[in-house]
Amino acid sequence: MGLLQDLGGPLLESFSQLGTWSQAGIVIATLLFGTVFLNVLQQVLFKNPNEPPMVFHWFPLIGSTITYGMDPPRWFKKTRAKYGDCFTFILLGKKTTVYLGTQGNEFILNGKIRDVNAEDIYSVLTTPVFGKDVVYDCPNAKLMEQKKFMKIALTTEAFRSYVPIISDEVSNYFKRSPDFKGKSGVVNISPKMAQITIFTASHSLQGKEIRDKFDETLADLYHDLDMGFSPINFQLHWAPLPWNNRRDHAQRTVAKIYMDTIKARRARGGETDAQDIMYHLMNSTYKNGIKVPDHEIAHMMIALLMAGQHSSSSTSAWCMLRLASQPKIMDELYEEQVRVLGADLPDLQYEDLAKLPLNQAIIKETLRLHAPIHTILRAVKSPMPVPGTKFVVPTSHNLLAAPGVTSSDPQYFPNPEVWDPHRWDADSPNAPAMVKSYEEEEKIDYGYGLVSKGASSPYLPFGAGRHRCIGEQFANVQLQTIVAMTARQFRFCNVDGSDKVIGTDYTSLFSRPLEPAMIHWERRGE
Ligand code: HEM
Repeated sequence: MGLLQDLGGPLLESFSQLGTWSQAGIVIATLLFGTVFLNVLQQVLFKNPNEPPMVFHWFPLIGSTITYGMDPPRWFKKTRAKYGDCFTFILLGKKTTVYLGTQGNEFILNGKIRDVNAEDIYSVLTTPVFGKDVVYDCPNAKLMEQKKFMKIALTTEAFRSYVPIISDEVSNYFKRSPDFKGKSGVVNISPKMAQITIFTASHSLQGKEIRDKFDETLADLYHDLDMGFSPINFQLHWAPLPWNNRRDHAQRTVAKIYMDTIKARRARGGETDAQDIMYHLMNSTYKNGIKVPDHEIAHMMIALLMAGQHSSSSTSAWCMLRLASQPKIMDELYEEQVRVLGADLPDLQYEDLAKLPLNQAIIKETLRLHAPIHTILRAVKSPMPVPGTKFVVPTSHNLLAAPGVTSSDPQYFPNPEVWDPHRWDADSPNAPAMVKSYEEEEKIDYGYGLVSKGASSPYLPFGAGRHRCIGEQFANVQLQTIVAMTARQFRFCNVDGSDKVIGTDYTSLFSRPLEPAMIHWERRGE
């Protein structure tokens, strides 16, 4: 005590003689040091053996947010090597339990409705963008019905009508675009693929009337809506910030455009064979006998286009970048079409897509390495014992699934880092182990039709369980058509002729290629 007084007296005296800024600096540094010290002490002394191990971190609220956010897939693999498949880390102040591997995917994605919940996490982001009463702004049972309406609309007959629409949009785009004038050139491919994706999706899924509006007002409005998906909005979704004001204005305006279109279509009448989803929803009724209200149709239209846009445009950009890194494969794609469809390359039809296995494999292999949704989150609603361990995940945690980790695991995919579309040929030395075909998978119905359970599959780019993607088949039709039509017209290569591939941008919710992603294009036959 005496020693403390001896030391403390002169220290306090020296402190009081310092300027205000220096004093403030010392107080802040001491508080910071104290917080870090207590945080480390807590991790070392108070480990809970019944919870998954906590990833070591220096700062309490930040935790591992920054190291995770820079490159999530790499971070998952590095952390898995140290802590195993199941561990907890701090993500933006929240204890987040990651469970990797096929068992982790099953535990989280096929979790029971009383245990796991998606809307508690995503609604703050999606409801201001999509609008009320749809997707995560309604009970899960209603979402399952909404997914059923959307899925039922995507029939083989609808796909048959979409392929010519998508092919025409792609051809017209390349004809119109000043970036593809002449015999060859260099272009930043990602924004081009984003435009092609929105034109093809809006035209096929929402009809020509809506598609035409993308040349005028809708493109800017959708851009403003998109800003609502910035990860910062997990915290600041409510704030009256400029981008949130623009998001809210865009939501009201886009919803009104859809509702006016619905009214006009009803008033006009006489449509009996329309294949777009808006038409299908206009004629759908919930189990309780209530017809889907117009505002819900409008909000589902926004949700569908937004859900598909990011994932499909990122995937199409990666397809083109991978082809530019291996132009020989792009030549093979062209030769495949000539061999199967004939040298005159007739107009592409839906049935043709199934006859082009390499064309299909381009999408499959690209999604294996570049699944746009690298992180899937769920809130924990009741304590969840992890089978085969003594761990119980408490309700104060979120759960995180990362199916991309298994799709690049050498246990399942030989030479996993190599982009090799031929690995999907049966006799390939890189052929995947344990990837069952859709028919072989166990099926389950969560209320929106039978889907493969996906429990044991290491390849789940479209997710699994009650929140599984309903756009998978549409995305495949859209992407395969875009790739086939592009390979007919062009040969791509890297600007420096190398086989390098650009890195990934993880700053938004959906990962995508870093920009600018320049490629060299050359018209075929020139
Ligand atoms: C859900 C991936 C295209 C509509 C999902 C999920 C994944 C995914 C991983 C599950 C999310 C979760 O569990 O939280 C993809 C990929 C696509 C794609 C990789 C393209 C390459 C599309 C398209 C549409 C669409 C084109 C619409 C036509 C949806 C919807 C859900 C969903 C409505 C359900 C959300 C829920 O139930 O919570 N998608 N998707 N997706 N996707 Fe897709």
